[in-house]
Amino acid sequence: MTSENRYTDYDPWAWLYNQSEAHKSCQQFLPKLEKLLLPHLPEGAKIFDLCCGTGQITQQLLIRGYQVTGLDGSEKMLDYARQNAPNAQFILGDARSFEFPSTFDAVICTDSALNHIMSLEELKSVFSNVYTALKADGLFLFDLGLEKRYRNIPVNEGKLENEYAWTIGETYNPEEKTGTFTITIFQPVSKNSDIKQNSSIVNPLKRLVYNKFLRLIKPSTLLQLIPKDWHPSDITFSAKPYAKAEIETALEAVGFTAVKAYNFKGKLASPQQNKYACFVARKTCQSFRSVENTAKELSASNSYS
Ligand SMILES: C[S@@+](CC[C@H](N)C(=O)[O-])C[C@H]1O[C@@H](n2cnc3c(N)ncnc32)[C@H](O)[C@@H]1O
Repeated sequence: MTSENRYTDYDPWAWLYNQSEAHKSCQQFLPKLEKLLLPHLPEGAKIFDLCCGTGQITQQLLIRGYQVTGLDGSEKMLDYARQNAPNAQFILGDARSFEFPSTFDAVICTDSALNHIMSLEELKSVFSNVYTALKADGLFLFDLGLEKRYRNIPVNEGKLENEYAWTIGETYNPEEKTGTFTITIFQPVSKNSDIKQNSSIVNPLKRLVYNKFLRLIKPSTLLQLIPKDWHPSDITFSAKPYAKAEIETALEAVGFTAVKAYNFKGKLASPQQNKYACFVARKTCQSFRSVENTAKELSASNSYS
C-alpha cells in the first residue's frame, strides 16, 4: 500500500473529535484497559496505540508509567495527540500497511477504529501487522461494532454549544453489510461564507436543557433549537461491521491464540453478542503453539480410537 492510500478521513473532524468524542472514548475505555489488559503487563511496558486519534488514551497510559507509541492516518488528529500526550512518540501511517519489529508488550485499538477497515482481507492485514509488532506473549486488545451495531437513524447523538452544534447520524445497508455515519456541524455563517464570530449565541438555559436531558432521550430535538443563521456542513465516514465469529477466525488465522470477546461492561460476551465486542488475543510464542497443536492432534486422534 502506498502513502496515498493512508486513511485521512478524520482530518476535517479532528478539532471537534478532540473536544467531544475523545473524552467519551477515554472515559468508557480506561476501565476496560484497567480490567482486561494492564494487570497482565509488566511495569513500564511498551504499548502501541494503533489508530490513536487525538491521544487522550495515550496520555492516560503515559501517566500510569507505560511507554507509548501512537499511530494514526490523520495528520490533524496527530497534531492534537502531540499536544495531549507530549511524551509519547507518534507516527503518521496506515493500520493496513505499517511494519514494526516485535517490540511491544501490548497493542490497543479503541473506539471501534477498526470498523473503518472496509474488508475482511484488509482487516487480516491489520491483524498480521499487529502480530508482527508484538513480542512473544504480547496482548492485542481492540473493540468493534458487530453486525447489529448500525441502524438507519438520522440523529443518534448531538450537542449544542455556544457557537456551534453537532449531530451524528448513521445508515446501514444490510445487503452490502456496510454503513456510514455522518457528523453534521452547524456554525454561524455570514453571507460571504466567512464564519462569524459570536453571531448568535444560544440561550444558556436552552443549552442546559438540551445537553443534560433532551440529548439523552430525544437527540433530534436539537434541530429545532439551532439558530436559523447557523449552516450545516456534513462529514460522512464509511464503516463496516463484522461478525464475532469472523473476527475470531481471522485472529486465529494470523496466529493469535486465547482469543476472548467481552461485552461493553468488560464481562465475557455471550455467544449471541451481535452489537459490540472488545477482543483480547495473545501472540503465543511459536514453541508453545506447536506443543498446543500437538496436544490438539493427540486429543483428536484419541477421540477416534
Ligand atoms: C473513532 S477514532 C478513535 C481514536 C482513538 N483510538 C480513541 O479511542 O479516541 C478512529 C481513528 O482511527 C483512525 N483510523 C481509521 N482507519 C485508519 C487506518 N486505516 N490507518 C490509520 N488510522 C486509521 C482515524 O484517523 C481516527 O483517528
